[in-house]
Amino acid sequence: MTRTRVRSKFVFACTECGAQAARWLGRCPECGEWNTLVEEAPTTAVTAALPPSAERPVPLAAVDPVGAESRATGVEELDRVLGGGLVAGSVTLLGGEPGIGKSTLLLQALGRMAEAGARTLLVTAEESREQVRLRAGRLGALHPNVLVVAETLLPHVFAHVADVEPDVLAIDSIQTVLDPELPGTPGSVTQVRECAHRLVRLAKERAIPTILVGHVTKDGSLAGPRALEHIVDTVLAFDGDRHHALRMLHALKHRFGSTHELGLFEMEDEGLADVADPSTLFLADRRTGLAGSVVTAVLEGARPLLVEVQALVSCAQAPPPRRSVQGLDAKRLDLVLAVLQVRGGVPVGGADVYASVAGGIRVLDAGADLAVALAVAGARAGVPIPADVVAVGEVGLGGEIRQAPQTPRRLAEAARLGFRWAVVPTSVPEVSGIDLVRVATLTEALQVAGLGADGGSAFTRPGRALSLLS
Ligand code: TYD
Ligand code: MG
Repeated sequence: MTRTRVRSKFVFACTECGAQAARWLGRCPECGEWNTLVEEAPTTAVTAALPPSAERPVPLAAVDPVGAESRATGVEELDRVLGGGLVAGSVTLLGGEPGIGKSTLLLQALGRMAEAGARTLLVTAEESREQVRLRAGRLGALHPNVLVVAETLLPHVFAHVADVEPDVLAIDSIQTVLDPELPGTPGSVTQVRECAHRLVRLAKERAIPTILVGHVTKDGSLAGPRALEHIVDTVLAFDGDRHHALRMLHALKHRFGSTHELGLFEMEDEGLADVADPSTLFLADRRTGLAGSVVTAVLEGARPLLVEVQALVSCAQAPPPRRSVQGLDAKRLDLVLAVLQVRGGVPVGGADVYASVAGGIRVLDAGADLAVALAVAGARAGVPIPADVVAVGEVGLGGEIRQAPQTPRRLAEAARLGFRWAVVPTSVPEVSGIDLVRVATLTEALQVAGLGADGGSAFTRPGRALSLLS
């Protein structure tokens, strides 16, 4: 590897997180990524001839509460993640891999806002106006209040904003706009960061909610939107499996609300459709009567979701045994397997274990632990768990089952979808419409599921389930 000799007027910046260093380093000291530092010219600070500040210190109570003025985008799942809509003067970064649907989502939101009376301006710096027009027809975004301009130079963008005075501004994408006063090519760290800085200032000055589209690639080869995280108010990550129609939107950072909400869409021929009933979607292709399949109820933000955990256990071909997860946290699977082995007496230590959540969703909720444990134990024993059973609970290292946050709400969702039984920790209160099988330990849970030492399932003999309660 050749390293350039460092001239002192140059600095290095990480393309992943934007951290700066005085010399080239193989690994970014901030985010720990390898080979992400690139050389860039430092921007000179303008300190001379600064006009006096227009700001005056005021009592905090005299400040208008921000957030009062938020504008719904009209795209329900986007508004869910934003906690209502776009706040005046806020800058939202919409990040995601190329082709995931950022431009589509943006155009749909602009169309809806235009219908609601907002004057919207889309700066397309990547696609031609004609390309945008072609898509807008299918997305219902041809309202006269959706204005489009194909522009890549930032000063021109500013001129269009002054001219049009939009209520909402969108830039697609931040990596393709260029400020000719600054060094660097479009997409370089300097350009991306400084253009974003200027757009943030513009948004604040004119109180225009602004959406910036940013591409992220897995190898971080573009100046990633992560370099912008500190600059903008809200960072939305749009992702999903390219081969599935499902798209997920969540906030990585949100100055005006929670970052726990998950927005769900399906990419269709007419653009992105809100997923109104995600539980039904995730359980749609479920094959019942299969050993190694257990449904659980997880919490995504304020919304409970039912998902199917699947497991497969096979003899290890060669040591060490394979552990493969999809849609689950690998570390939590390891923990559950260890507890199953040591506390539950289920010998899985030497076996290959595959565990996944169907539908392309990623579950990080520890409330899924119990379902993972039952799915693995069920798969190993070849014993199916009845299709109308859900399992909700965290597995502790001592083999105890703990209550996951908001368990009654999760169970209410399970009841709504027709589930009859719920395996839950002992502390869970009654929930109408579903029978609870309370278990204190993983061993008890295995027993009620017919996976214990003595076989037999509580679900086929309800009397046994009740006896476990006492
Ligand atoms: P796009 O919004 O251009 O992605 P990004 O801006 O994130 O790069 O979406 C691209 C993909 O979405 C493309 O592969 C086609 C698909 N698509 C649909 O399936 N239906 C639609 O109505 C639209 C507009 C796009
Ligand atoms: Mg695009």
